[in-house]
Amino acid sequence: MSSKMLNVLLRNVAASLLLLLGSVTAQAAESGFPLDHMEPDIHDQASLQRGMQTYMNYCMACHSLQYQRFKRTATDLGIPDSLMLEHLVFDPATKIGDLMDNNMDESNAKIWFGAAPPDLTLYSNLRGGPDYLYTYLRSFYADSTRPLGVNNLLFENVGMPHALSELQGMQVKVCKQVPRLAANGGDMRDPLTNEFVTEELCGDALVARGYSPLEIVEGTGSLSAEEYDQVVYDLANFLYYIGEPARLDRTRIGWYVLLFLAFFYVFAWLLGREYHKEFHR
Ligand code: HEC
Repeated sequence: MSSKMLNVLLRNVAASLLLLLGSVTAQAAESGFPLDHMEPDIHDQASLQRGMQTYMNYCMACHSLQYQRFKRTATDLGIPDSLMLEHLVFDPATKIGDLMDNNMDESNAKIWFGAAPPDLTLYSNLRGGPDYLYTYLRSFYADSTRPLGVNNLLFENVGMPHALSELQGMQVKVCKQVPRLAANGGDMRDPLTNEFVTEELCGDALVARGYSPLEIVEGTGSLSAEEYDQVVYDLANFLYYIGEPARLDRTRIGWYVLLFLAFFYVFAWLLGREYHKEFHR
């Protein structure tokens, strides 16, 4: 193959990789609502333990984690089996080797919520990943037109109640006077008074202009906004871990593989030197 052909080929491969990457990120943002970023840290055991505690207390009754066993989670999170059974598992019939299932009856759930709560074991691998979970749990707001009195900015007309409302409090959509945009993209001013011309925007419309669409009704939650973000971070981190527990092993084994390659290189190099001697005699 000539070097020109090779060049063209390489450029085509690079272009298709870029295209592929583009379509993956475009899909992640499918709802159109911007996701807040969280950086998972599966080596932060304290965070994972707190996340699991929140999950068992506030989510497990509705959402199972049926592709994972309690035992594996206990081991990975550094929680002794007996402590796990005593403090984190509320069904006394559960054994440490059991799958993390619940007793939610699907047909009843459909009647109660309009949709059955999905199993969340693999959820962090879907949609926008842990960013989605992190944003979703901070996007509930009061909406009296919905059966359970809440709605969600990320998931319109969601069937789920705001499970963490006693911690976060209840959010409401806000309306704000913001500067009207001029044709050139800047803020519009009145040519006579030179004051900003404002318009009232509410809820989602504020997002595009960089304002927060929701605010917490004071005194309705037991945690501050920062504390609540931490709770949701830990929860999303835990669900990220459970989406692929083997990640923990992979990074550990990766180091051994690199060490082995470094070690092997020495011998490969020595062998290569011997061969080299043969044909330059
Ligand atoms: C009272 C039952 C109940 C509780 C408690 C509950 N959920 Fe849900 N959840 C649901 C239902 C029902 C749905 C399906 C909603 C729909 O499809 O409209 C759902 C959907 C979801 C989804 C999917 C959203 C999507 O975009 O597909 C996620 C993620 C989720 N819940 C996370 C949680 C977490 C985390 C907790 C704990 C803090 C929790 N849920 C607590 C009932 C519950």
